[in-house]
Amino acid sequence: MKDSFQAVKISDNVYWVGAIDWSIRDFHGYLTSRGSTYNAFLIVADKITLIDTVKSSFKNELIARISSVVNPEKIDYIVSHHAEMDHSGSLTDIIRLTNPEKVFASKTGVRVLQEHFDFNMPITPVQNGETIDLGNMKLTFYDSKMLHWPESMISYLHEDKILFSQDGFGSHLATFERFSDEVNENLWLEEAAKYYANILLPYSKLILKLLDTLSTLNIEINVIATDHGPLWRGEDIDKIISLYKKWAIQTPTDKAVVMYDTMWGSTDLMARAIGEGLYAGGANVRLMPTRGCHRSDLITEILDAGALIVGAPTINNMMFPQVQDSLSYIRGLKPANLIGFSFGSYGWSGEAPKQLRKFLEDIKVDIVIEELRVKNVPKAVHLKECFDAGKTVGEILKKNSGCSFK
Ligand code: FEO
Repeated sequence: MKDSFQAVKISDNVYWVGAIDWSIRDFHGYLTSRGSTYNAFLIVADKITLIDTVKSSFKNELIARISSVVNPEKIDYIVSHHAEMDHSGSLTDIIRLTNPEKVFASKTGVRVLQEHFDFNMPITPVQNGETIDLGNMKLTFYDSKMLHWPESMISYLHEDKILFSQDGFGSHLATFERFSDEVNENLWLEEAAKYYANILLPYSKLILKLLDTLSTLNIEINVIATDHGPLWRGEDIDKIISLYKKWAIQTPTDKAVVMYDTMWGSTDLMARAIGEGLYAGGANVRLMPTRGCHRSDLITEILDAGALIVGAPTINNMMFPQVQDSLSYIRGLKPANLIGFSFGSYGWSGEAPKQLRKFLEDIKVDIVIEELRVKNVPKAVHLKECFDAGKTVGEILKKNSGCSFK
């Protein structure tokens, strides 16, 4: 394979040797519409060092790309920044093939890797701030615990000024281009936001802390080498760091997301009237029926929204199941700084709007309108109530939001 699958030089001494997954569409519940990459890197130092591996099914692609630079048996060190199997799935096979002098992971990483795999050699733990000597180069490790697993760490290669950020700053985007500045900006922006919303959002406070720590280290960064999607260099480094700060703070905009589903069209009619009112009140509106909008796209829209309004009909005393599915996913991702309310039509018992309100309260949405319930089919008077509720929220958003979505 090595004649067909080549490494890509990303700096004087470092090569990208990862794999491109053009076909993945479901990444533990996240709709990866544009595939992904599993990035791994080869540092050609006195001690030849492999940074991370790839999903097990892409092992041969990794080996081929390494072989286009050096004989894999020449690898001295392997670093495992993150034990999730898209980066460690081929680690045991690569260890067997290369027989390295050492494999490094964080202290917790040693345990988590051992809980996943059986190794034929010990894994060497490294501490926060520890530097290893690659002969003519130096690599320093920094703790990035819970970004997004307990064992996660990042590292910095001093000579080439590369920050290996594992999942951080990633995008699920399969491309042959290795840098963001070779990709359409709207495309990487969309995929980087989706990645943040679906993977990193619950850990936003830790992101801000890590960004602070990095800024106090005063290290010069030429490349942020993430483990997914395009790498960052030049002015895109500042752009993606600023975006991470914005997403982590979740400053509300004037965007309102109306997430709902319907049984016989009544809740849909309510949602549309609420949407008309929101727009009349000055909001940017996204109406998102859960049957047509994947949960991972819903949370991406919520990432920079100021309002979340949820609606569902009642079926057998419960909210409609498609809405429940999306809510369960969204709850775990802990969106913040939202206002909202709930609504829904019903036939006789009508529990769903109260259940939806409880959900909104649980994720600390500020309830600004009492739940709207309509028995069976909404009449003009009900639709006017929906419109007015939407308009009120639109006006609050316009008045209070930190910035316009546009
Ligand atoms: Fe890309 Fe958390 O694995």
